[in-house]
Amino acid sequence: MVKQGIMPVDIERLRAETPGVAARVHLNNAGAGLMPSPVLDAMIGYLRREAEIGGYETAAENAARLDGVYDSVARLIGASRDEIALVENATVAWQMAFYALPFRSGDRILTARAEYAANYVAFLQVARRTGVTIDVVPDDAEGVLDPQALERMLDDRVRLIAMTWVPTNGGLVNPAAEVGRTARSHGIPYLLDACQAVGQMPVDVTALGCDMLSATGRKFLRGPRGTGFLYVRRALMRELEPPMIDHFGAPWVAPDRYELRSDARRFETWENNYAARLGLGVAVDYAQAIGIDAIMARCLVLAGQLRDGLAAIPGVTVHDLGPQPAAIVTFSVGGVEADAVKARLAEAAINVSTSSPSSTLLDAMARRLPTVVRASPHYYNSEDEISRMTTMIRRLATGH
Ligand SMILES: Cc1ncc(COP(=O)(O)O)c(C=O)c1O
Repeated sequence: MVKQGIMPVDIERLRAETPGVAARVHLNNAGAGLMPSPVLDAMIGYLRREAEIGGYETAAENAARLDGVYDSVARLIGASRDEIALVENATVAWQMAFYALPFRSGDRILTARAEYAANYVAFLQVARRTGVTIDVVPDDAEGVLDPQALERMLDDRVRLIAMTWVPTNGGLVNPAAEVGRTARSHGIPYLLDACQAVGQMPVDVTALGCDMLSATGRKFLRGPRGTGFLYVRRALMRELEPPMIDHFGAPWVAPDRYELRSDARRFETWENNYAARLGLGVAVDYAQAIGIDAIMARCLVLAGQLRDGLAAIPGVTVHDLGPQPAAIVTFSVGGVEADAVKARLAEAAINVSTSSPSSTLLDAMARRLPTVVRASPHYYNSEDEISRMTTMIRRLATGH
């Protein structure tokens, strides 16, 4: 998948623009990436201005820049700006789309085994309320959702295909575009959770064939916390009534009537954290200036180095599935709880996180996964940092 002729990333410059690398080995980009200086500077400058001249006045002064965030996000995923809603996180984005869909008793939702907990509990709630059935598409021999099994499971009761592209608990990359082709050819709405994919791999909504896509700003995009976005294909969007509205998404035009906005901003509300929104836009432009292909190429190299290094350590089990896993590496160290591993790494200024079974319950149960350690490198990590990480784990696992 790594294309020929990609400009390599200028790692020294990118590290110089990442204040966080001075103090830490940050391998928690699946939690929150380190913001680069341009993102930080834009947000701090904006906040300072709010304090100096007022919040509404700063928004007016920066109207064009803030408006440009829609163009930046649209460019990133190959959409039109009127198909983008900016919201506070990926979960809200996903919920806005999901709960806008009409379901009736007997309808079916098809999903994947590694579906994210927030999405699955929403399926369960709608199942309880309406009587829809949730059917999980099995994985193929390599552990990714099996597109042929999906095809076989389709019937005229399937109202939604909802899938997490890259799950929270490992490097698995589900075949998002293949699923999209199936969804398109049967005219079934397709909601893609691209939360862990955006920022580490190319995302093109046309190639993916998705109708709705949700993502967050703070992870591999390296934007600020509390930012996310939703894409809804124009034709579908015009049919969708958001589950909750206010007078921004649905202006009050007569005493007994509101009118939904004609664009995806019908899924937004009036008040926003504009400094964070600006930071998101800068983060998106920053990633695009580096080049998403180059980012992916380096992510794959670093994640591969980490995975191979860990797998070679006696007593360490790597859990990632799929033929070409992304930059989320999950593993266990025999005899040491995941949280203890994380704590020992933290003492050495290495940031990782853990992923508990309840985040991806079906997958964790099927594979009998314990809470796993999750290390998620990004392009700005160095090979030396990856080696430091594997050295620490070797010491922990083998005592030397
Ligand atoms: C696969 C996946 N989907 C959705 C989310 C939710 O994103 P957010 O925390 O921005 O709502 C996460 C967060 O970890 C995730 O890993």
